[in-house]
Amino acid sequence: MAPMMDWSDRHCRHFVRLLAPRTLLYTEMVVAEAVVRGRRERLLGYDPSEHPLALQLGGSDPAMLALAARIGADHGYDEINLNVGCPSERVQNATFGACLMARPSLVAECVAAMRARVAVPVTVKCRIGIDDDDHYEFLLGFVDAVAAAGCDTFIVHARKAVLSGLSPRENREIPPLRYELVWRLKAERPALTIVVNGGLTTIEAVERQWQRVDGAMIGREAYHHPYFLAELDRRAWPEGAVEPPPPAALVAALRPYVESQLAAGERLHAIARHLLGLYAYRPGARAFRRVISELAPRAGAGYAVLEAAVRAAEGAEALRAAG
Ligand SMILES: Cc1cc2nc3c(=O)[nH]c(=O)nc-3n(C[C@H](O)[C@H](O)[C@H](O)COP(=O)(O)O)c2cc1C
Repeated sequence: MAPMMDWSDRHCRHFVRLLAPRTLLYTEMVVAEAVVRGRRERLLGYDPSEHPLALQLGGSDPAMLALAARIGADHGYDEINLNVGCPSERVQNATFGACLMARPSLVAECVAAMRARVAVPVTVKCRIGIDDDDHYEFLLGFVDAVAAAGCDTFIVHARKAVLSGLSPRENREIPPLRYELVWRLKAERPALTIVVNGGLTTIEAVERQWQRVDGAMIGREAYHHPYFLAELDRRAWPEGAVEPPPPAALVAALRPYVESQLAAGERLHAIARHLLGLYAYRPGARAFRRVISELAPRAGAGYAVLEAAVRAAEGAEALRAAG
């Protein structure tokens, strides 16, 4: 599951893990300097059930990134990933994210510095190109330079980033997907682990990618339809795969986590907002979302709201079944 700011936070990951036991999960991007100077526990804390778990860092200062990577590894993250794909202007002003694709030697320096400080894999998430640098040779040149610094895993969002004129959201939709560049990269650099990302919303589409590259990273569809990720997890690792719990059982399984978080001062909405897609493509989806959206943000809302949402969804389903 892809790193997604405001979405793939620890509550989301805790919940997704109950559906997808083996899938590698990524944190939201955390700025390296914040890790080094900020409130570490708040930025890096997670529940052990979230493993395997990769920490995504943003930055371009090799020394700062190396320190942050080390702190992340000491917290037990299984992988440290560098964000070279985010096109937001805020990120460009700080010279990190996608604009770093134009500076492969700096990214190589960052990766080398991070690798020197951690034993876990250091990986890079990038785009196929930026602005007019959108030809295959540009991607290959970037990857070769960074691979020479010891990075052997690249997650490639198969769209270029347009650095001015498009918002981050538009940059996830407007530049066309060009998977063939990622496939060619894998064909020409078979020793590297190449993971494709972008626009994968069906099981068949993901399975086709698995024939060409080493893996697929899923963002929005995993978030809005978490049972999609559950099904991919089962197909990726068929041995020992078990049926994911149905929504009502899943909400029941979340109870201890929700109650301990509420007791620690968290608000129900911070957790419940990630559950909105639980009934996606099922009867009762709208009733479930309505109860969560209306009741979870209220002051003092507790676990009972989730039970009420399940009852509403299952009631709507029963009504529908009764004709
Ligand atoms: C709400 C949101 C936040 C995102 N935040 C990040 C981020 O922090 N770091 C990152 O590398 N990509 C981020 N992305 C991009 C995703 O990781 C992914 O590359 C993109 O959504 C394309 O994959 P998809 O089509 O499967 O969603 C974000 C995407 C969304 C929708």
